[in-house]
Amino acid sequence: MWYFASPLIVYGEDALSHLATLEGRRAALITDAHLVALGYAEKVADFLRQGGLEVVFYDRVEPEPSLELVKEGAEFLLTHSPDWIVALGGGSVIDAAKAMWILYAQPDLDPEAINPIERFNLRAKARFVAVPTTSGTGSEVTWAIVLTNRTERRKLGLGSREAIADIAIVDPAMVMDLPPRLTADTGLDALTHAIEGFTSTYHNDFTDGLCLKAAQLVFENLPRAYRYGKDDIEARAHMHYAATLAGLGFGNAMAALAHGIGHALGAIFHLPHGRAVALALPYTIAYCVQGASGSTRYAELAYHLRLPSENEQVAAKGLIEAVIELMRQVEQPLTLAQAGISQRDLVREMPVLIDHTMNDTQTIMSPRVPDESELETLLWQIYSGDISL
Ligand SMILES: [Fe+2]
Repeated sequence: MWYFASPLIVYGEDALSHLATLEGRRAALITDAHLVALGYAEKVADFLRQGGLEVVFYDRVEPEPSLELVKEGAEFLLTHSPDWIVALGGGSVIDAAKAMWILYAQPDLDPEAINPIERFNLRAKARFVAVPTTSGTGSEVTWAIVLTNRTERRKLGLGSREAIADIAIVDPAMVMDLPPRLTADTGLDALTHAIEGFTSTYHNDFTDGLCLKAAQLVFENLPRAYRYGKDDIEARAHMHYAATLAGLGFGNAMAALAHGIGHALGAIFHLPHGRAVALALPYTIAYCVQGASGSTRYAELAYHLRLPSENEQVAAKGLIEAVIELMRQVEQPLTLAQAGISQRDLVREMPVLIDHTMNDTQTIMSPRVPDESELETLLWQIYSGDISL
């Protein structure tokens, strides 16, 4: 028995105005200072107030949200007793808000102990709305929560099926001002979700179509959204929907090795999440296709992307070239060296990177799972740009 989970998704022009229809007493708007300064938080609050809700603001979420931050945010919720939690931001804000929602219901829980088995009874206190302001993480439709343990410099892949938003508002107006670098980083995260969701060992008939459509949309629209920003409204909208489609896809399947490696690289070298997973993606495709034959699905994926697809090897090669070409078009680093990591840093951190990757929940969903020495080779390949097929 399996489940397909999804919030009610409100999308398109003026989707944000759906907030005016929420019924309740008080909304806690969880966001970051940047979105307050840009006026987005006030725009959201205005709609909430139109529906008769009182709005309280928590705007202290930072990138790579820590265990300490979610405890502080939960205290805020316990003080203000909202019956709606509205997360406005990128993946960091939405993930942090989901963890705060759990601690609001279960104040004695250690955030590191959030797990998919225990019942938290979240909706007895509040329901949850996610309003993404980037086009990438898919957190608005997944039950995954990534937090950072700062002491151990480790990303924690947590989650609870209950901690999925009741409503996701996917309004392209919220991403019109996204800067080019953030557009590229988050857009490549969406592509990695689509490809890994399709090829992970948890892939299934319910998610395949979502992953395929999302991958097509990213290949077609990311270069335009990167280059023209708000002057290409159509590309912006397609990228915003692609991110949510990919979120539904990998969120109901799993991500895989590029995410395992990307989480480790992100926590140790503080690379943005999308940049880190995209760096690993081409190399992990090359690694996986060299495993047992028939264990990968690159030919099927490539066929739908109109790439050469005679067999797994040919398809993997074409897919790698297409991913690298896309990364070039959006001026993304293609190696760890280009991302500013020195050889000395990589040598020093290698044991930790290997340990974190091997213990990441996404790594074991890969069609081929590396041992420690294969992983070390893979990391050096990512460093130097050596893709051998
Ligand atoms: Fe991701």
